[in-house]
Amino acid sequence: MSFLANNLNNIKPSPTIAVSMKANELKAAGKDIISLSMGEPDFDTPDNIKEAAIAAIKKGDTKYTAVDGTAALKKAIIEKFKRENNLEYKANEIIVSTGAKQVIYNALVATLNAGDEVLIPAPYWVSYPDMVLLAGGVPVIVESSADNNFKITPQSLEQKITPKTKWIILNSPSNPTGACYSSDELKALAAVLLNHPQVHILADDIYEHLIFDNLKFATIAEVEPKLKERSLIVNGVSKAYAMTGWRIGYGAGPAALIKAMSMIQSQSTSATSSISQAAATEALNGPQNYIHSSKKIFEKRRDMVVAMLNAIDGINCNIPNGAFYVFPSCQNLYGKKMPNGKVIENDNDFAAYLLEEALVAVVPGIAFGAAGFFRISYAASEEFLQNSMQRIADACKKLK
Ligand SMILES: Cc1ncc(COP(=O)(O)O)c(C=O)c1O
Repeated sequence: MSFLANNLNNIKPSPTIAVSMKANELKAAGKDIISLSMGEPDFDTPDNIKEAAIAAIKKGDTKYTAVDGTAALKKAIIEKFKRENNLEYKANEIIVSTGAKQVIYNALVATLNAGDEVLIPAPYWVSYPDMVLLAGGVPVIVESSADNNFKITPQSLEQKITPKTKWIILNSPSNPTGACYSSDELKALAAVLLNHPQVHILADDIYEHLIFDNLKFATIAEVEPKLKERSLIVNGVSKAYAMTGWRIGYGAGPAALIKAMSMIQSQSTSATSSISQAAATEALNGPQNYIHSSKKIFEKRRDMVVAMLNAIDGINCNIPNGAFYVFPSCQNLYGKKMPNGKVIENDNDFAAYLLEEALVAVVPGIAFGAAGFFRISYAASEEFLQNSMQRIADACKKLK
């Protein structure tokens, strides 16, 4: 009998964290590595937010809070949904958790029975399939193509729905592709979903504020109000306010679902940190200029990175409309020889080559269910990005 649970055989550690750890190991060994593998803004948390946390500590807000979040933070979340998404929620339709990650995990554990299917459009965030497996469900991948900017179509969605489909996970702007669904595109997907009342929608909107080209963010419950009762919106402060380490995410959905998720949270982690909740309340209620200034900076970096990548022979990069990732193809480099004589056969080989030759860490597309591509996070300074793009270009020139 194995000591470790059988379920662990089904899952793997996060590949993005694995790449970062490898990059850190090489750095510690003295190599001049540039890591473009992590999914967090390189900016500091704004001062007004830090000060709210310090004030909370000084005031003695250092005790357990209600499991599903403080009244003040829930109020700020309700106002955020009204202000930014035109959606009305009551306090019993909101949960605050330790990051958006825990909101998603709670939702899956609260709803999945063995054999229940969850539709996951590919390329996907690395954690979705493994979380579904941990919760006893079956991930069902819905493919998309680079030609359609990595977005699924109503037809591809319809084909994968079965009587066992319980959820579809939508993530726009997307990690890893930066793809954003317009409100018309969401309407077309909603038209399919309206015919299948057994399917619930988990809208992971964590990159909501990182949307460029003057596009307007849309979420499916806003676009098709008939789906609101079947939707869980997941969001948080990690990416929008450079608060990845504070661990605050939130969910908004039907009261019965939120209650079940809170029960799971009450028996696992309980409430998240009282201090982080005070900080997140200030993030949502306070001045929003950080969001606008960081968005401008990310958009400028995106343009630079895409242009430099597309100038490299063998690399093709779509222009993503959001998040802080690009997802170029390296397929035209397959069959080329590295200086050591080995041949590049797939995106894993290419990423390993970049780490060794260019000392740049990127994540192979296969980690996101999309072989042939690689993900670059441009949440790094312009100087860093310029330097790393040049290194990638130099390494690619050495391929024969
Ligand atoms: C698509 C997506 N959803 C959720 C998360 C988790 O965010 P949090 O830091 O709030 O747990 C991430 C973080 O990388 C993400 O990329």
